Amino acid sequence: MKSIAIKNLKEFEIKEIEEPKSDGQKVIIEVKKAGICGSDIHYWVEGQPTGLVLGHEYCGLVIDPGNRKDLHIGDRVTALPLSPCGHCPACHAGNIQYCPETWDHAAGLSLDNPGALAPKMAIRPDMVIKVPANISDEEVAMVEPTAVGLHAINLANLKIGDKVLIIGGGIIGLVSAMFAKKAGASYIAISETNKARGQKAVDLGVADAWFDAKDPEIINKFMQQTQYGFDVVIECCGNDPAVSTSLMGVKPGGKVVLVGVATKAITIPTVLAVMHEVTVQGSIAYTKAEFETCIELMNKKQIDVTPFISDTVSLEEVQTAYERLTSGQDDAIKILVDPNR
Ligand SMILES: NC(=O)c1ccc[n+]([C@@H]2O[C@H](COP(=O)([O-])OP(=O)(O)OC[C@H]3O[C@@H](n4cnc5c(N)ncnc54)[C@H](O)[C@@H]3O)[C@@H](O)[C@H]2O)c1
Ligand SMILES: [Zn+2]
Ligand SMILES: [Zn+2]
Repeated sequence: MKSIAIKNLKEFEIKEIEEPKSDGQKVIIEVKKAGICGSDIHYWVEGQPTGLVLGHEYCGLVIDPGNRKDLHIGDRVTALPLSPCGHCPACHAGNIQYCPETWDHAAGLSLDNPGALAPKMAIRPDMVIKVPANISDEEVAMVEPTAVGLHAINLANLKIGDKVLIIGGGIIGLVSAMFAKKAGASYIAISETNKARGQKAVDLGVADAWFDAKDPEIINKFMQQTQYGFDVVIECCGNDPAVSTSLMGVKPGGKVVLVGVATKAITIPTVLAVMHEVTVQGSIAYTKAEFETCIELMNKKQIDVTPFISDTVSLEEVQTAYERLTSGQDDAIKILVDPNR
């Protein structure tokens, strides 16, 4: 079958790969919609590893239920891309997101488990979740990034009335802003290098204001707005200036949640964290319970992530979609792929 695979720096190729075969264990799905994630962009920018078939946010229809006796052909499902070992202390505590093995064989993020940028895919059965009929295919494909935002805001321990700064207005920043508002934030600001995305965050109503991350006066402007800084900063970029801005924008005694994935070591002014006793909290993925909470919130129409979906494209259009998402000027947030289009 046809797939999209990493070929080189910022380059995909259409690649023939083997169709997933029934093994009595894995669940095989026909992919309906798959999301392009900021983490996928890191792989594409670096052109590594070649041959990787991305796609870890998706909605699909069961073709083969594998060992899942509760699933039937035609059921609509999604899945956690994680691949936890099941026996380490993190797994025993329910924190499969930081099991040391969880990313080694993650579907759509590892060479041995091709992802959803292909018409069909095989999934580790215990990660598959059946979804209610009330949620559209597009929303189902958005559960994974939505859960990333929920986990970050749960770890932020927001208090009602808190002022929150979100650095980076991609999908992770926007869903974090959405949950910060639900958690009672009184003021939410977004810092962005892309003006179109910054403005869109305000137009969509998820942020009260946006600030140009390239403005040399940005920290002064933050202080004018908040007096002593933000109670909580959620960093959703994973680069040096963004992490530094987090430490400069947070109030003394405040909390910075690092969600952005930096692909190399970055230098940060730790003295600010020391002098202001800032709490720095890492946040990776989500627990299974949080993933299921997002499905439930969508089912009950308590959250609506559809305004963050900008487009749906075919496999042939994936290369152009990535170029659009990295142009630094386009206002597209989440682009979905329909690999059977
Ligand atoms: N921790 C996790 O579990 C997890 C999960 C998913 C994604 N991520 C990471 O979170 C980050 C965001 O993901 P996304 O899908 O929203 O990506 P994205 O690329 O769509 O969004 C990032 C945004 O940050 C903006 N930006 C870049 N540098 C900036 C700066 N210095 N200041 C302000 N804005 C800046 C970009 O213009 C872009 O709009 C990525 O690093 C991704 O790898 C982490
Ligand atoms: Zn993702
Ligand atoms: Zn484990």
